Amino acid sequence: MLICKTIAEMRSAAAALRDAGSVGLVTTMGALHAGHMALVAAAQADHANVIATIFVNPTQFGDPSDLEKYPRTEQADLAMLQAAGVAAVFMPDVDTMYPAGSETIVETTHLANILHGAVRPGHFRGVATIVTKLFNIIGADAAYFGEKDYQQLAVIRRMAHDLSMPTTVHGVPTVREADGLAMSSRNVRLTPDDRAAAPVLHRALLAAEQVIQAGGTIEDATDAIRAMIADVPQATLVGLDVVDARTFTPVSGRATDTLGIMISAQFGDVLLIDQKETTP
Ligand code: PAF
Repeated sequence: MLICKTIAEMRSAAAALRDAGSVGLVTTMGALHAGHMALVAAAQADHANVIATIFVNPTQFGDPSDLEKYPRTEQADLAMLQAAGVAAVFMPDVDTMYPAGSETIVETTHLANILHGAVRPGHFRGVATIVTKLFNIIGADAAYFGEKDYQQLAVIRRMAHDLSMPTTVHGVPTVREADGLAMSSRNVRLTPDDRAAAPVLHRALLAAEQVIQAGGTIEDATDAIRAMIADVPQATLVGLDVVDARTFTPVSGRATDTLGIMISAQFGDVLLIDQKETTP
C-alpha cells in the first residue's frame, strides 16, 4: 500500500492507478471503524483499485476544542486499510491542504446553511472545500460516503453535480453496533454512561418510522422522537429535521414520498448524529 503525503506524490500514484483500471475513493478523517471499512468494501466491489484519504479537516470544525479532541489513530488506520487491500492512502498535513494564502472556498449556498448546517455554521462549507480539493487531486471515477451523514451526502452530491465534477458520488448504508448505535469516530469519546444511553437515537428513529408507517403525521413522528429523547437524561436533542429524501426540502403533515429523518443530540461534550429513510 502506497502512502502519499504530498499532492505531487498522490497525483502521480493516482494517475498510475487510473492507468491500471478504475479507481474508487474513500475520504476519511481517520479513527477508522467498520463503517469506513463498509465504504472501502463498496468501492472495491465497483473498482479495480481504491484510494483512501486520512485528513482531519480543520475548516469543518467550528469549535477548536472539538478539532483538538478528534480521535487520531493513524497506525491502526493504516493497518486496517492495508489489511483491506487499499492501493494507496493520502495523508497530507494541514499546510499541504491549506498553504498560507489559501482563500478559495466551495459552498452549496442553500443546502449548507439549512437544517444541521444552521446549527453548525461553516461546517458544510469546510466539507465541500476539502472534498473538492481531494476530488481534484485524486481524479477518482467514484467516491463513497456514509448515509449516516445524510446532509453531508446531499451537499456533496449537489456540489459534484453543480460543478460538473467527473467523480460519481455514492451513498453507503449506515453500519451499526449490535445495540443500534450508528458507528462513528466520535463514539470512543463517550463516557460509559453516555455510550449506554446513546442507542436511544436509533430507537427513536425506529419509533418515528413506525408512526409514519401506521399512518401518523410527521408531527406525530417528531413528537415520538422528542418524548423518547426527553426520557434519557444523558441526551440533549440538538437537531430534528424531516426532509423529502429526493429534494431535501423540509416536509410536514402526512408523508406521501420517502422521508429522511435526521437527528442530532449532545451526550456530554460529544455531538452524535443519526438518520433514517422511511417510506410511508
Ligand atoms: O465524513 C467525513 O469523515 C468528513 O466530513 C470528510 C468527508 C472526510 C471530509 O473531511
